[in-house]
Order: sequence, then C-alpha cells, then structure tokens
Amino acid sequence: MQTTLAFDVYGTLIDTQGVLVELQKLLGDQAPAFSARWREKQLEYSFRRGLMQNYQDFSVCTRDALEFCDRFYQTQLTAEQKQQLLACYRTLPAFDDAKAALQELSEAGFRLFAFSNGSAEAVKGLLQHAGIDGFFEGVVSVEDLKSFKPNPAVYSHFLRSSSARANETWLISSNPFDVIGAVSAGWQAAWVQRSSEAVFDPWGIEPDARVTSLGELKRVLDAAR
Ligand code: 2OP
Repeated sequence: MQTTLAFDVYGTLIDTQGVLVELQKLLGDQAPAFSARWREKQLEYSFRRGLMQNYQDFSVCTRDALEFCDRFYQTQLTAEQKQQLLACYRTLPAFDDAKAALQELSEAGFRLFAFSNGSAEAVKGLLQHAGIDGFFEGVVSVEDLKSFKPNPAVYSHFLRSSSARANETWLISSNPFDVIGAVSAGWQAAWVQRSSEAVFDPWGIEPDARVTSLGELKRVLDAAR
C-alpha cells in the first residue's frame, strides 16, 4: 500500500509571513499585526464564500482581505503598493524545512501532492518560484469544485484526482481547520505546529500526529505504518 501525502500549501509549505518584509517597509511597526490580520481575513473570506456558495478564486479572498486591512488600519496604501504586496503573495518563499523533507519523503516512496485553496496556476507558480515543484506528482486545487476547505467535498475531490483511498491518505497541514476537515473526511492528518503559540481548536477532533517541522514527518509516518 503506497501512502499518499496531501500537503497544504499556504502556511505549511509556503511561508505566508514572507510578505512581512514588504509590509515592514511600508508600515513599520504595524506590519506584524497587519500581516496576521490579512491572513485571518483571507481565510475568513474563503469560509464565508464557501458557506454562501459564492465562490471566487482564492486570490480574490487575498485581495479583498488586503483591502479590508488597509481600511481597518487606515494605512491608505496606494493602488501600486497594494499591487506590489499582492505580487509578493504570488512569490512567497518555502519554509526552510520543506525541500529536505520533501526529498526524503519522495525517496522513501510516498506519493506527494500539493493540495490547496489556491488555484492550480497560482500554486504551481509558488512551488516553481520556491524551487520545490519537482517533488510533487500533482497539484490538486479546490477551484475545480468552486468551494474551499474544509468543505468535505474538497477532500473527496482530492481522492478522486489522486486515485488515492482515504485510509491511505494523510493531510499535512499547519492549519487546524484543514486538519479537522481532513480527519472528519476519514483521512489521517499531521498537524504542523510551526509556532509554540499555535493552538489547536478544542473540537475533540484531533490530528493523528503533531510535528513542529516537516523534517519530523518521515519518522512519524513510518511509525504509523
Ligand atoms: C491552503 O493552502 C489556505 O493554507 C490553505 O489551502
């Protein structure tokens, strides 16, 4: 049985705080709060659009969340500065642990996929820019379903797209909402707790494994086989 690993992208493989440097040039001390609120609002918009069945590409959630933050913090960003920040979002860096972990897992015979709210085009561009696209057998985007994580349908869509079975598939994600969605869909899941301050939601639906970096995955997955 070949185990399939579905890697969440933003926040798991790709560091969304990579935009912080640009924000600090523009906003100084306000940048960390602005950046965190931008990510929260981007995800909130995806949840709301999924529930409303009013789908727009994830990049629209990102753009509208940036606009929200500009108004909320009254930063009066120019159109050019906003475009510059959105361009940053399209070329975010991979986390330092990603390349070595993907190499190790690929050599160990795991099937690797990127699995994201982002469009296939946006995700392929991110992975190529970050130099980690070559490790993946494929990219599965929720765009085909016009919905977002954690809609159960998107986890079924992944299984169909990858010809994998739920009991052979692990979600690898730093996002608790995604982990809870995958476990609820019958997958196994590893929560990548990238910050000691990150709190997992108290829903009573727990990950099958917790790691603090992608480098721990092979040991954890081998132990679970
Ligand atoms: C994803 O890449 C938004 O992190 C989430 O699907």
